[in-house]
Amino acid sequence: MAELRLLYVMYLVFILFAFSLAQLLPLGKHTENGQHMKYISTFPTTTSFYNDFVKPEIPLLMKNVLTNANFPILKDWTDEYLCDKYGNLHVRVEQDKKEDRSLKPKHYNFKKFLESYVTDNIYMVQSVPNEMKGEVTVPSLFNCGGFQKVLQDSVLWLSSGNTRSVLHFDDMDNINCVLDGQKVVLLFNKAQKELIEADGFNKEGSYSKVDVDAVNLDEFPKLRLANWSTAVLDRGDCLYIPHGWYHQFRSNNARNLAINFWFSHLWWLNESNCDSTQVTSHTHTLEQMAVKSNNEQVRSKLLSKWAHKKIVSNKEFIAEIPKFDAESRFQVLDMIDSNHDGNLSWNELYSFDIGDYVLQTLTGTTMKQLETCENSQYQYSDYDAKHEKYARYMQDM
Ligand SMILES: *[C@@H]1O[C@H](CO)[C@@H](O)[C@H](O)[C@H]1NC(C)=O
Ligand SMILES: *[C@@H]1O[C@H](CO)[C@@H](O)[C@H](O)[C@H]1NC(C)=O
Repeated sequence: MAELRLLYVMYLVFILFAFSLAQLLPLGKHTENGQHMKYISTFPTTTSFYNDFVKPEIPLLMKNVLTNANFPILKDWTDEYLCDKYGNLHVRVEQDKKEDRSLKPKHYNFKKFLESYVTDNIYMVQSVPNEMKGEVTVPSLFNCGGFQKVLQDSVLWLSSGNTRSVLHFDDMDNINCVLDGQKVVLLFNKAQKELIEADGFNKEGSYSKVDVDAVNLDEFPKLRLANWSTAVLDRGDCLYIPHGWYHQFRSNNARNLAINFWFSHLWWLNESNCDSTQVTSHTHTLEQMAVKSNNEQVRSKLLSKWAHKKIVSNKEFIAEIPKFDAESRFQVLDMIDSNHDGNLSWNELYSFDIGDYVLQTLTGTTMKQLETCENSQYQYSDYDAKHEKYARYMQDM
């Protein structure tokens, strides 16, 4: 009898527990404040992409753009093909399809990954290896205007589906394209910072601690007020996510392959570089674009202070840059103000060699900041080389 009563109590506890869990809904179902994003079906010209989306920092969903543009890797990159051609490469693999930033990624032989990812709880997140860059054409948006110079990283995301990222933001602009499967992206306007970061936010990693599978609105009460847009990306679709916008990715339950392009936010478009008859075909490969060091990210951060100005005077510029002695001031301005008129035009601000600037101006401590803003987290093969380069920078100073 006592045993039965115990069983009964346990049963009740279980029901209550199950009921309270059932109350916790995934992000995107946690309130009714979402709406589907509008979309376009061809890539815009670079000028329109810049003026209507990048500059005002508005996301853009482009459906079927890769299919319509006959993007080569869309049909070619089956597992068999990847295994035959690149099976011997090493790739970076996350150890849970639900993103957990406390887990250390492992490195797999690509062939071994391809043999096990359908059944194992693993997710390949790897910068496009040099060996593959020749095959990856870059969306035509990057063809002109300054976009050619600011590409920072391009990453491959491969899994058997059902991945969930944390809710987070990136410091760079991003174009994410789905090559297989479906991704659903929730986008929260950066203006809602206060609501998103109020409860349980990891500042250093720029992500919310909310459980994206089970949102506890008691712990995250402000999240109840936040609005979002939902972008559904199927095979051949791309999404532009402006820097600073909060977003969360999930993928459906099937093979999922995506590629993204991270680029430093441009504060000015060099329109004279984009002629009105701009070809909207994807003519450059990643190999030809040569993904840059993070120096352009330094330039982007530096120039953000003058985002809304037409022209910057030498005086204003000097007032904003870190610790300078008189001589280095002179050298730096001499380098940037190429026509020596006492003002810095946007053309000048985007022309000077940012590598030289970094070398000339940054002190030991700011060098550290530079290292932390380096986007090395998804780079395996490149990491050592870069590290060495920065060690050399440090020595040079
Ligand atoms: C969310 O959307 C609703 C309805 O459009 C609006 O009243 C509210 O102000 C929005 N909230 C935020 C934080 O923008
Ligand atoms: C802007 O475009 C013009 C014309 O293509 C070019 O001569 C100039 O160097 C470009 N400026 C920058 C900063 O790239």
